[in-house]
Amino acid sequence: MASLVKDFPRVHLGHTPTPLELLKNISAEFGTNVWIKRDDCTGLAFGGNKTRQLDFYIGQALHEGADTLLTTGAVQSNHVRTTVAAARKLGLEVEVQLEHRVDRDQPEYHNSGNPYLVRLMGARINYYPVGEDEDGADKALEVRAAELAAQGRKPFVIPLSNAHTPYGALGYVEGAEELMAQLQALQVQPARFIVPTGSASTHSGFLLGVRSCGSDIPVHGVCVRRDSASQVQRVSKKLNSVIDAIGCAIRIPDSDIICDDSQLAPGYGQPSDATVAAIKHMARNEGILLDPTYSGKTFAALLEMLRSGDFAADQHVVFLHTGGAVSLFGYPELVAEEAH
Ligand SMILES: Cc1ncc(COP(=O)(O)O)c(C=O)c1O
Repeated sequence: MASLVKDFPRVHLGHTPTPLELLKNISAEFGTNVWIKRDDCTGLAFGGNKTRQLDFYIGQALHEGADTLLTTGAVQSNHVRTTVAAARKLGLEVEVQLEHRVDRDQPEYHNSGNPYLVRLMGARINYYPVGEDEDGADKALEVRAAELAAQGRKPFVIPLSNAHTPYGALGYVEGAEELMAQLQALQVQPARFIVPTGSASTHSGFLLGVRSCGSDIPVHGVCVRRDSASQVQRVSKKLNSVIDAIGCAIRIPDSDIICDDSQLAPGYGQPSDATVAAIKHMARNEGILLDPTYSGKTFAALLEMLRSGDFAADQHVVFLHTGGAVSLFGYPELVAEEAH
């Protein structure tokens, strides 16, 4: 079957298809077949879900003749780090804007992990003092882009807010198509997919990709930034604009959008005890690294389902690992009690 996104300009930044693996120890522990889609292995300076999204953003940027990328994110943003790596790989200039989104004073949060790598790759960094002002953050990028354009550069803004064409979601339409083909080859029919839902590019693209393959498997989004009601609206808006951009006839009702905010507290970028326990559970049973903001919370939700007996014996479930473990270095307290 031809991909829904085949007609969009794109580049190929990552190592895909990513592996689909069975978590043998965790599956044995709960009597459910727990699969992991290793999108933490997309490559590109430690990879993650943003690599697939950038294939289409940067495809569009090059299509428009851009020579400079601008984007914005939290201090420990994986998206910012991956955008800088993509720019370096393709020989583009890059400027990033780091927002004050998470109240953490620890020097490691500001200097280690993602911001360390952004500095290592030599991007110009601007700062934005607010963390909950997507429109303002995007506007600041546009102002800087206009300055660069006046200097003769050709900037392309990768925005944050939901008011733009969601090129990033196209990457997860393709990611879901890839996963559905892998599952078909293994003759595995999961009961549920578990994915994080933040900007909603991953969730909306993934849901569309799964439905476009003719599957009605539930896609369980785990909220990392907003409560369930706001996130359903956000996913719905993005889903509809990606459907419009593709021009396909598929319709997905809001009742099909699952946003579970059980792991959101205490807030974005702030791990709860359950998040930390989930990160340690995966690290100590499978040797796989999750992160405190996205994949740790998503896996915490899955652990809760496994413990509550949500799955019948021998059912299958797939956890989408979107990466982000680089930011562990910004949270040294996670292993504080183990330090000697
Ligand atoms: C590691 C990781 N997982 C998940 C997400 C959430 O993905 P999305 O923004 O597409 O909802 C992000 C986004 O920043 C991320 O960096």
